[in-house]
Parts: sequence; structure tokens; C-alpha cells
Amino acid sequence: MQIDPSPRREIGVFDSGVGGFTVLRELRELLPTARLRYLADTAHAPYGNRMPEDICARSVAITEHLVTQGAELIVIACNTATAHAIEALRARWPALPFVGTEPGIKPAVAATRNGRIGLLATPATAASARLRALIERHANGREVVVQGCPGVVDRIEAGDLDSAELRALVDRHCGPLRAAGVDTALLGCTHYPLIEPLWQAALGPEVKLLRIETAVARRAAALWAPGPESPDLHIETSGDPVALRGWIQRVLDWREPDVRRWPGN
Ligand code: DGL
Repeated sequence: MQIDPSPRREIGVFDSGVGGFTVLRELRELLPTARLRYLADTAHAPYGNRMPEDICARSVAITEHLVTQGAELIVIACNTATAHAIEALRARWPALPFVGTEPGIKPAVAATRNGRIGLLATPATAASARLRALIERHANGREVVVQGCPGVVDRIEAGDLDSAELRALVDRHCGPLRAAGVDTALLGCTHYPLIEPLWQAALGPEVKLLRIETAVARRAAALWAPGPESPDLHIETSGDPVALRGWIQRVLDWREPDVRRWPGN
């Protein structure tokens, strides 16, 4: 029997905007021959200020599109969409593997010496029942100070990675973590590693910062059996492709990213 080589099979990755690139760049290194499609839902970012039903509806619409394009694995490169949509997505596509992005409470519990952990996330993630359950399940008696950080993603999306206003905002959001004396802090949004030095400066050099995107990319790579497809990367955005192309070239230093508008005109 002939095995269908299915040359169109690909991995679909999505986020509200540019945050998921932190996962995508790891994934490209781990799976250099895979076909990847990244969808940035820029026109609806930030998700962190949206209602749960809205985040879920966006995630369903995007997954529908990615599946139509040939996705056989979906990486939700967004903590906020994972918190509010992964269960609905799994229920709707029971045969499709999904890899979500969630703060690494377990590694933080292993890393802390004083038992006090900080968690920085979008307002919608911070308020989610899924995050509460995750903390209850894994915190193992450690204190976890959860801080919602409105305003940060908007600035990163606009290309601001280092202004005085952004530094002041980050500093303000880190205040409760400093006051609690955390020695370990989780970056619970995929946009946040893009400004890691700002979080570190606001928390102080002795606080250990933990990020999750490498673990997410490894999990996805472990689920993906490399096939006959040739490597390819398609980037799509519900916002302005020219602006996103410029952002990618400037921040990620990728030469000629192929960025298209979704849905197309
Ligand atoms: N990058 C996303 C996350 O990991 C979403 C941020 C947002 O759109 O608010 O939560």
C-alpha cells in the first residue's frame, strides 16, 4: 500500500500578535525541515484585555483556518488563548494534537529557595480559572504572587521594547513581586521574553526569571514526525502585513519574511 506523502502537512502556530515568535524561533531550530504557518491575530491584540468568550471565538476561527491550510499540529503560542480556549479547541478537534503555553509552575517550585514565586501575565490569564487550578495543582505550598500587567503587550506590538514609559510600566507591575520578596519570577506571556532585560532590571539581578517557550517548542517537536515535506514558513496577520514585516526584520533580524494578510482581500 502506498503511503500518502501529504506534502501539505504543516504545523500551525498562533498568537494574538508577535509574542508567539519567541516560540516559533525555537521551533524552527528544532524542526528545520518542517512546514510552519504562523498566524498573528494583530487586529485583535491584545487578547489580555478581551472577554474569555471572545478569546475563545478568535482561537476557534484561527484554528479552523490553520486546519484548512494543512495543519496537523497546533501550537498555541499564547498563554492567554491557552487559558481560555484550549479545552474548547480540544473538544472541537479531538483528533488534532494541541500544544498549549502555560507558565512553568513546577520548574519555579524547583528553583525557588525562599518559597516565594512571582508570575507576570496578561490580565485575562491572571484572572483565569485554568491558571488558578494550575497553581493549586503544582505550587506545593509555595506562595505564588500573580500580577496582571495591562499595557505591556500593546507597547511591544507597537515596536516599543525599551522606552522610558515602558520601563516605568514594567517597574510598576513588578512592585507587588518586589514587596512580596519573590526570588523567582515566571514570564507568563509569550510577549514578555522580548523585553526580558526590563523585567530583570525592575526585579533586581538576584531574582531568577523563568521563561517557557523552549519547553513548548520541545513538546511540539516531540509530537512531530518529520515527513517528506520541504521546509517552509508562512506568516499571516489579521493586521497590517507591511508593519509586521518591518517589526520582524527589526526585532528578530529575519531577512525577507513572507507576510500575508489573513483573511486575504
Ligand atoms: N502573547 C500572549 C500571551 O502569551 C497574548 C498577549 C495579549 O495579546 O494580551 O498571553
